[in-house]
Amino acid sequence: MSLNDKIPNNVNLSDDRRLMRALEQWQPSFLDWWQSVGPEGFQGDDVYLRTAISVHTDGWAHFDYVKMPDYRWGIFLTPSDTERKIGFGDHFGDPVWQEVPGELRNMLRRIIVTQADTEPASVEQQRLLGHTAPSLYDLRNLFQVNVEEGRHLWAMVHLLHAHFGKDGREEADELLARRSGDPDKPRILGAFNEPISDWLSFYMFTMFTDRDGKFQLYALSESGFDPLARATRFMITEEAHHMFVGETGCDRVVQRTAELMREGKDPRAEGAVDLPTFQKYLNLWYTLSLDLFGGEISSNAADFFAAGVKGRYKEAQHEDHVALSGEYVVPVVKGGALVEEKVAVRNAMNEVLRDHYVEDCQRGVDRWNRTLEKAGVSERLRLPSRRFHRQQGIYAGLHFDVEGNLLTGAEWEARKHEWLPSAADRAHVQSLMHGVHQPGKIAGWIAPPSKGINGQAFEFEYVRRS
Ligand SMILES: [Fe+2]
Ligand SMILES: [Fe+2]
Repeated sequence: MSLNDKIPNNVNLSDDRRLMRALEQWQPSFLDWWQSVGPEGFQGDDVYLRTAISVHTDGWAHFDYVKMPDYRWGIFLTPSDTERKIGFGDHFGDPVWQEVPGELRNMLRRIIVTQADTEPASVEQQRLLGHTAPSLYDLRNLFQVNVEEGRHLWAMVHLLHAHFGKDGREEADELLARRSGDPDKPRILGAFNEPISDWLSFYMFTMFTDRDGKFQLYALSESGFDPLARATRFMITEEAHHMFVGETGCDRVVQRTAELMREGKDPRAEGAVDLPTFQKYLNLWYTLSLDLFGGEISSNAADFFAAGVKGRYKEAQHEDHVALSGEYVVPVVKGGALVEEKVAVRNAMNEVLRDHYVEDCQRGVDRWNRTLEKAGVSERLRLPSRRFHRQQGIYAGLHFDVEGNLLTGAEWEARKHEWLPSAADRAHVQSLMHGVHQPGKIAGWIAPPSKGINGQAFEFEYVRRS
């Protein structure tokens, strides 16, 4: 088999013997990893999957049945723009770098490894979910997300192998050695060590945590290090489907709940997810995902921006690309009260990115609320304050209610299960999880999708069980 068959790519891999050999050596380890901690119990099934075959906007994806271990994980970078200039920071206007500048080597490696680590982590977190999929349509979507996270890992490992020498190869091996939730070798970021053992959590994860990924990828797609910019730009294309799975998955749960409420029934008693429980899962996953943006006031974020390594969301839409003037107001806790503190914009870059994220999440919640409204249900869902339940940044170690008001530790302990899933809530959600693996059938706690994948009906046999 030729290399281009084994590792589909548009980076002329076959012209670079060293790189090719390095990736050929890494591939069996990747496949071992996939077999041992990838989706459990479905590796022999034919799954109707989308495979990236190019980066052309029309026709980049090919749909067909494939067994997951035979998925063609490829390396695709959006085409290079030879005129491209660095769009922000201290090197604003300079030509972009095709190789890693020596002084930025550690910074870039750390950023790439942190992004890369999330990709296999989520596959590990979701590995048992197939057994309890609410429909074949959902089962297929889970596997689509999983194989694409695998491809994102390939994209980042390609950068490590191509541009970081021996260190890069070691980092690529480490990416397959860490394990989500492992006390000795955990994944790097908190949300990627949380178990995802039910489908409500899966939809919340793809809604909120994959959406963090979207904004991180946008910020990296502005990078002055051109190979990183081009790799992440193409990853964003695939990431859109992951968030679709989350946003519509949550919407379908809300729809089913609303239907039962309209009939005057108690969703929980009917084997569905009651709205208060849904809200608690939302609060949990939204806040875990807020943490992924890092500290509100961050000299690291300032350094990344100054160096031209990580920009803002759609940097071109900003007016001042150097951002050395201007302030950003952050509410901080001082002397037991919230006071507004002015921070230099560069030090608030995480918060600037988080603002875009919050706005995008709100749009999703608005959609769910329209579903409630259409069903004639008066209750509404909402995003909690961004200070609530934080474990990173300036609010970590403090306690706030969902409105963002300070609480004492005792108040928090007494009230936290008003806002976060209790053991009973988790047990209820878990009790709903039974696999439905017949074409056209669906579990009772979720509404079917309004349409299928790639023009197929919901009843289509998205996964052929072997
Ligand atoms: Fe990803
Ligand atoms: Fe994703």
